[in-house]
Amino acid sequence: MDKIQIDTVLNRIEEATGQHANPRIAAIVHRMVRDLFHMIEDLDIQPEEFWSGLNFLAEAGRSGELGLIAPGLGFDHFLDLRMDEAESQAGIAGGTPRTIEGPLYVAGAPVAQREARLDDGTGEGEVLVMEGQVKDGAGQPLANAVVEVWHANALGNYSYFDPTQSAFNLRRSIVTDGQGRYRFRSIMPVGYSVPPNGATDRLLKQLDRHGTRPAHIHFFVSAPGHRKLTTQINIDGDPYLWDDFAFATREGLVPPITRVSDAAAMAALGVDKPFASIRFDFTLHADQADAPQAEVARQRASVAA
Ligand code: DHB
Ligand code: FE
Repeated sequence: MDKIQIDTVLNRIEEATGQHANPRIAAIVHRMVRDLFHMIEDLDIQPEEFWSGLNFLAEAGRSGELGLIAPGLGFDHFLDLRMDEAESQAGIAGGTPRTIEGPLYVAGAPVAQREARLDDGTGEGEVLVMEGQVKDGAGQPLANAVVEVWHANALGNYSYFDPTQSAFNLRRSIVTDGQGRYRFRSIMPVGYSVPPNGATDRLLKQLDRHGTRPAHIHFFVSAPGHRKLTTQINIDGDPYLWDDFAFATREGLVPPITRVSDAAAMAALGVDKPFASIRFDFTLHADQADAPQAEVARQRASVAA
């Protein structure tokens, strides 16, 4: 189509906007329509392709998978990089890297002081002990910081979204002690894969891609006067470590794993096999008024504790 013809119809659509329109929404919608019109033109998108794309999005919405497609297409990671950039421009540097929240957090997990056991004892998986400190930018420990932790079981599934698991299995909020310390015992997670034959899976197959994440553990770390950190650690050695379908693996978030076979340490945990141990400290940035908010509002699952 003629460039002037496309502009004429786009202008008519934009001019239909009323004077009480929400200006931000209007700007975003107009830009989106403009970009899509040009995409349809440039790629010569056929009517069948347009309607099949629309129906695909509708189905992804109905099955609750839009929150999976977004990370799979790199949007979550891109938003992280933009937040890094904004922080850097506000003079905020260093600290524990952020990485994506993912769609599987559930608010309201049981709160524990200093340490917790995350697994309910019914699941398979190597015993894992993870511990460390929450610190400020000067390396000082942060007492009463809250370490919210959640991860998948040995089948790659998350409680709540997997109704076969007990409530809040592998989910806790741990409050650090006077030295900023936290510790938990759990079981080794296995990488999550998108639901087979769901909208995300079918889209990724069209791209000749897999829908698997390397094994990881999610965290929200917060402390009074400090910017909330959203991050994950990865389990070293996972074959998908640097091949995450959500592009979330980052340098600095792959701590070494130690295997502990010391008899006294095993006895103290009540285990008869060597277990995995990870030490990881979190460093938070102090609140800063001129930096964009680190806490991101979004719809999340929530269960009353
Ligand atoms: C997805 C799943 C995760 O466990 C995660 O951390 C990020 C994304 C997903 O299904 O898209
Ligand atoms: Fe996850």
